[in-house]
Amino acid sequence: MNLSIVNGPNLNLLGTREPGIYGAETFEAYYEKLQEQYPQVHFSYFQSNVEGALIDALQDFGFRTDGILLNAAAYTHTSVGLGDCIKAIDAPVLEIHISNTFAREDFRHTSYITPVAKGLIVGFGLDSYRLGVESFLAGK
Ligand code: DQA
Repeated sequence: MNLSIVNGPNLNLLGTREPGIYGAETFEAYYEKLQEQYPQVHFSYFQSNVEGALIDALQDFGFRTDGILLNAAAYTHTSVGLGDCIKAIDAPVLEIHISNTFAREDFRHTSYITPVAKGLIVGFGLDSYRLGVESFLAGK
């Protein structure tokens, strides 16, 4: 199985960014462990702070991977372009959030991704990504 992880703005700062909300682990360290945990999965990973670059990555992965785990970060709440892109690609997209966005500010309760995503995993810390992998492996 080929799975792609796409991370949006400021997630390159995980480890030091608001650790009370996002934890103290870098995504790179977590990603390494995730790959070790699932040797049967071929992972690819892309992060950008730029909305258009995320759309380019989704268009690229979207026709050659079995599934995409997308944490669009702040663009979740603003980006019509990302939502449209998800509708245009073949691969199912699972929306991922580290924090429980529904327990935070009102503007985080809106998502342009959820209506077009296969599902939504929020609030389990970095483990949200692993739960997403499990759901793809279970064929859900
Ligand atoms: C986030 C939640 C978003 O509201 C926020 O803008 C992020 C991270 C999360 O994973 O909890 O940057 O997507």
